[in-house]
Amino acid sequence: MSKQVILTGLRANNDLHIGNYLGAIMPTVDMARQKADEFQVNLFVPDLHSFTTPIDHSQLQAAIMNNVRVYAAAGLPIENSNVNVYRQSYVSAHSELTWILDCFTGFGEMNRMTQFKDKSAKLNEDRISLGLFNYPVLMAADILLYDARYVPVGDDQTQHLEFTRDIAVRMNNQFGELFTVPKAVKEQHAFFGKDQGLRIKDLQDPSKKMSKSDETGKGVIFLSGSPDVARKKIMSAVTDDLALVNYDHKSQPGISNLLDLLALTSGVSIEEVNTKYSGQTMYGPLKKDVADSVCSFLEDFQSKLAKIDDKALIAKLESSEAAMNTQANETLLKVQKAVGLR
Ligand code: ADP
Ligand code: TRP
Repeated sequence: MSKQVILTGLRANNDLHIGNYLGAIMPTVDMARQKADEFQVNLFVPDLHSFTTPIDHSQLQAAIMNNVRVYAAAGLPIENSNVNVYRQSYVSAHSELTWILDCFTGFGEMNRMTQFKDKSAKLNEDRISLGLFNYPVLMAADILLYDARYVPVGDDQTQHLEFTRDIAVRMNNQFGELFTVPKAVKEQHAFFGKDQGLRIKDLQDPSKKMSKSDETGKGVIFLSGSPDVARKKIMSAVTDDLALVNYDHKSQPGISNLLDLLALTSGVSIEEVNTKYSGQTMYGPLKKDVADSVCSFLEDFQSKLAKIDDKALIAKLESSEAAMNTQANETLLKVQKAVGLR
């Protein structure tokens, strides 16, 4: 019997920060490493999704490759044959299935998608593309083509996952067992069993999450930034005047964020870090240790990124894409037959 499938999109942008790394990239890479023996793990670059809002198209090729490189540098096991790494647009069944699913999707159900509402609210009406409206249908095709059961996604994507389940059930009811219905969000959380809500905070304002859209960049540690600059930002991180180290995100968000950064970048559990620092009355030594840990993390990541062998990456992409075309086309043919196209 073939292995059950875990699938997710590798979304990355060009100004990644340590929050993206610790909250999104690292958990995906860890998941792939842990699950790849037992499952087929599909990780793909959603390149067709990347211009549902306007972008600079002259940068897209570079962004796609950079995306894969960042994951490889983070330790994605590309040598494992159970791990497939591919570009969405290289498997044309994604586009073809999207059209068919479109014809079974209601205007109203897409209109209710909160990501569409949020993103379209930021655009002039004539720049809101049909692609943005249709985004969840393409995402459903991404998932259903491979019979994926487990789909780790952030909170902002759970509505799209629920839609994927709805359309799969709807098609199955009308045409017989066409699709594997992915597990409900609750079961996904239980399966991945990770801290879904981890948010690294802005160093200058620990009440908000670290984000690339911060105008000053003072509270943000960029993955491609200089370690010296990162050190300065950490040493001047905003904390509090309680003069007591205590891991409590509500009462001491700045200190707790530093403890999180230390634990995650040094690969030590938060409990261990807490045992070591709780009760200390000076923040300087903690900041210095966080700065040391983040700097060596950055140096290590940047040197791994510089060493990535593009040839090996492209060979991996091409072999995965060949295998994925075979698998996806089988599902597509089943659907084409069901709807009467074949
Ligand atoms: P940004 O807010 O910098 O624009 P994105 O919205 O592009 O980040 O998020 C990309 C991924 O990184 C998402 O999976 C998101 O959940 C994760 N992420 C973003 N910011 C943080 C953060 N501060 N801490 C943890 N994870 C984050
Ligand atoms: N929409 C996802 C995101 O923004 C990326 C994505 C596209 C995806 N297709 C997918 C994730 C299919 C999981 C499964 O993060």
